[in-house]
Amino acid sequence: MVRYLTGFQPTGALHIGNYFGALRPAIELQEKGEAFYFIADYHALTTIRDPAVLRELVRGVAIDSLACGLDPSKACFFRQSDVPAVTELAWILSNVTPMGLLERSHSYKDKLSHGIPSSHALFAYPVLMAADILLYDSDVVPVGKDQKQHLEITRDIAIKFNELYGKVFKLPEPNIREDVATILGLDGQKMSKSYGNTIELFLPENALRKKVMSIVTDSTPVQAPKDPAKSAIFSLYRLFATPDMLASMERDFLLGGVGYGAFKKKLFAVIWDSFAPMRQRRAELEADPGHVDRILADGALRARTTAQQTMAKVRRAVGVTP
Ligand code: ADP
Ligand code: TRP
Repeated sequence: MVRYLTGFQPTGALHIGNYFGALRPAIELQEKGEAFYFIADYHALTTIRDPAVLRELVRGVAIDSLACGLDPSKACFFRQSDVPAVTELAWILSNVTPMGLLERSHSYKDKLSHGIPSSHALFAYPVLMAADILLYDSDVVPVGKDQKQHLEITRDIAIKFNELYGKVFKLPEPNIREDVATILGLDGQKMSKSYGNTIELFLPENALRKKVMSIVTDSTPVQAPKDPAKSAIFSLYRLFATPDMLASMERDFLLGGVGYGAFKKKLFAVIWDSFAPMRQRRAELEADPGHVDRILADGALRARTTAQQTMAKVRRAVGVTP
């Protein structure tokens, strides 16, 4: 059976871009193979300094993912730091990681340019990510385009290790989600926390309405025809509406006579209704924190078993066992 592994960085409340771009594809894959999904809290330490905030964000990702359909009876769902062996593996892998490989990292340079303080951990981020992937003998790693280079680094590290110590690691295959559309935000750019243009999935009703009503539009008068292809409203509506609903909105755009405000109201209604079952499930999970803790503890137990097997091989290979 194919083993899928991916990590979710706990960086803030889940938005529609994260849901369609990362979470939903991962949830679909849990039906197709053996899924290992974890919350990358060690990685989050590179940017989050407040322990209470980190704990809160980790819990938030756990609850959001479970509410959206991540099924712990299918996927092994755990917190990265519950398997500390990953940091031991990262150290061992560091020894076969040329500095140049990390110096070429786009994401490191990008993070520095966004004002994230440079640190050894930020620089070594891809090595920890390689350890995540190799520790669990992953076959396929589904990620967004931004993570492509990290997967190339992982493969380079695994090849180097295997050359030196014999074949210990399977070479993971990237699964870059090129086919997943880029979800547009309130201002028509890519939806992203860094652009402040996100629509979070689990906003209260009024806050969600306010956000949707604030989508930026042009000044085409109500009576005039409008171009659906240029509208963030239409592009978001497409994600939720049935084909009939979509065709009807497209007609109204092209014919004119309907203002952007009316389209936004329809968009709000369909987002609100679509996430109703997830909202319900989320409220139940929030009311029972012990249940979420047990899910993560069970996941950690399973993950640890696999990790121990890999680490026994790795330790023997490099000579840190008697
Ligand atoms: P943000 O850009 O808000 O900081 P992240 O980089 O934390 O979001 O996103 C995590 C994953 O969610 C990304 O690797 C990507 O696959 C997906 N994702 C984020 N925003 C979008 C978007 N606008 N469209 C499609 N996928 C997205
Ligand atoms: N770096 C990934 C991100 O920012 C998260 C991540 C950490 C990850 N470890 C991983 C993804 C291992 C896939 C595999 O989204």
